[in-house]
Amino acid sequence: MTTTDEPIYQVESLIAEDIDKYLETHQHKTMLRFITCGSVDDGKSTLIGRMLYDSKMIFEDHLAALEADSKKVGTQGEQIDFALLVDGLTAEREQGITIDVAYRFFSTEKRKFIVADTPGHEQYTRNMVTGASTAELAVILIDARKGVLTQTRRHSFLTHLIGIRHVVLAVNKMDLVDYSQQVFDDIVADYRAFADSIGIADFTAIPISGFLGDNITSHSENTPWYTGTTLMNHLETVELDQTLDQQRPFRMPVQRVTRPDLDFRGFAGTIANGVVRVGDAVRVLPSNKSSRVARIVTFDGDLKEAVVGQAITLTLEDEIDCSRGDVLVLDSAPAEAADHFECHLVWMDDAEMLPGRPYWIKIGTTTVTAQFERPKYQVNVNTMEHVAAKTLGLNAIGVVSFSTDRPVVFEPYGLSHDLGGFIVVDKMTNATVAAGMIHFALRRARNVAWQPLEITRSHHAAMKNQQPAVIWLTGLSGAGKSEIANELEVQLARMNRHTFLIDGDNIRHGLSKDLGFDDADRVENARRLAEVAKMMTDAGLIVIVSAISPFAAERRMARDLIAEGEFVEVFVDLPLAEAEKRDEKGLYAKARAGELVHFTGVNSPYEPPTAPEIRIDAMATSASDAAREIIALLIP
Ligand code: ADX
Repeated sequence: MTTTDEPIYQVESLIAEDIDKYLETHQHKTMLRFITCGSVDDGKSTLIGRMLYDSKMIFEDHLAALEADSKKVGTQGEQIDFALLVDGLTAEREQGITIDVAYRFFSTEKRKFIVADTPGHEQYTRNMVTGASTAELAVILIDARKGVLTQTRRHSFLTHLIGIRHVVLAVNKMDLVDYSQQVFDDIVADYRAFADSIGIADFTAIPISGFLGDNITSHSENTPWYTGTTLMNHLETVELDQTLDQQRPFRMPVQRVTRPDLDFRGFAGTIANGVVRVGDAVRVLPSNKSSRVARIVTFDGDLKEAVVGQAITLTLEDEIDCSRGDVLVLDSAPAEAADHFECHLVWMDDAEMLPGRPYWIKIGTTTVTAQFERPKYQVNVNTMEHVAAKTLGLNAIGVVSFSTDRPVVFEPYGLSHDLGGFIVVDKMTNATVAAGMIHFALRRARNVAWQPLEITRSHHAAMKNQQPAVIWLTGLSGAGKSEIANELEVQLARMNRHTFLIDGDNIRHGLSKDLGFDDADRVENARRLAEVAKMMTDAGLIVIVSAISPFAAERRMARDLIAEGEFVEVFVDLPLAEAEKRDEKGLYAKARAGELVHFTGVNSPYEPPTAPEIRIDAMATSASDAAREIIALLIP
């Protein structure tokens, strides 16, 4: 293979002569991660191909091969055939592979690059968010003949939402509009108006032709009116996030405490922001204990200072408590902790978001339980309109408040992606269901304190001479829950126990009369039942809850809310066919006739308990026997 081109020849001969020197140069290059947004029609594949080809880039995987086997030093970097490359991308597209994020690695002599090529359709919002989550720059591609389109706005909005600081407006196919400055200026003005409206403060607009190579690596003679940077030059010189993040106060979420039993007790993690030096006064959050940095330990020995992105282990001068999930911060500029927030949420799961349901959220190095409230609004990503929403479905984006079960050390996402960005995990399936970005902590969290009371739950219980408990009866409509609950209360009353029965049907006439039967409302209904039941145990009562409560997650939530050992889950198990046959309220017939939507067992799911304290075989057990069985467990 021969090449007449100087730069690549030099690189290749360097590889051939001195692989160590070559790799070393390569290692010290900075790295830019960026995404390209646009559809195939905008010439995205062509542009990527052109960038790779024109700048004579060396593929990372080629380098990896060299690094893996230095004996192959003689292997020459291959000249990339432009047509072949574009074909490759096209083939991928045809196979439908591009619905997933495709990452490409390449490098120039100045910088290394990872480009995430994300498809642009609305249904791929999730992919775009994934691809963009680590990107620092977005190339928004526009077809000069078409101008700013709906998808341009959608991509820009997502880009901004994800916190990408640098936006390049690549006005492509300039050759097809005769390199008209007017066309370019109009598009830029149009885009600027939109960018302003969503808060994109700045962007770099470049007139290009991916196909012919105008303004990709060198200034095009076809656009003498354009004096700005070329695309590659911009990518090679744009200021990296790391430079900005380094200027912010030091923060490091603690990943691991090393050897806590020995004298060398270290706190390991990756610096999320700023710089740390030996001797710096630091503070552990949320406990607020302060000390000084004694050592900064790394695999390559001790350091005097370390910067954002570095994985280090810190030891402190004083013995203070600090564990995984805590955050080490600069003492003079600490971060905040809170338990109630507003955020943007991008929902990524087929199962919709259910307000009130407890989810795991992973933020920094900590995992906490969080409950989302009803969305303030959902954003229509095509029109930027705010629409009312009860939940968020797949690919929906909304503004939502949420509370956590413990204070979380955070920063607004705009300041720190590490401490302001989080993922949401379903507690039952363990699937990642959403990504979130914190705007700010809600004041309520700080202004409403828990009021300590003098007469405690144990006083209440002692006066009643009983151990409070919640007996939670779950089962299909018509399974016989109410009858058992009633019998249970009668038998307990005979034993002089103070009880209260919360019946699903009854509560829906009062406290829950605003709720219907879709998933979101059932979750909210269960949350209210659980909170009320908990309060009643604080009053010393034995509480009987009788409600379908079809979802395992909410029964789990109730269990977690009630004191340890005070929750008895009773599964009143009657086969659907039998419940339907009995159909005392005539509701199954109505549901089958299509007159009732979301009817449990017919067109709404029932998730049977897998490990209830008691399972009642409702086919074979009378209500009084069932009640006796429950009491036997409750009062041995
Ligand atoms: S739950 O699912 O939210 O726990 P809950 O027990 O409070 O339900 O209320 C269920 C009662 O409401 C049933 O006993 C039934 O009489 C009535 N009902 C009315 N519509 C429905 C429906 N779509 N699904 C289930 N129950 C319904």
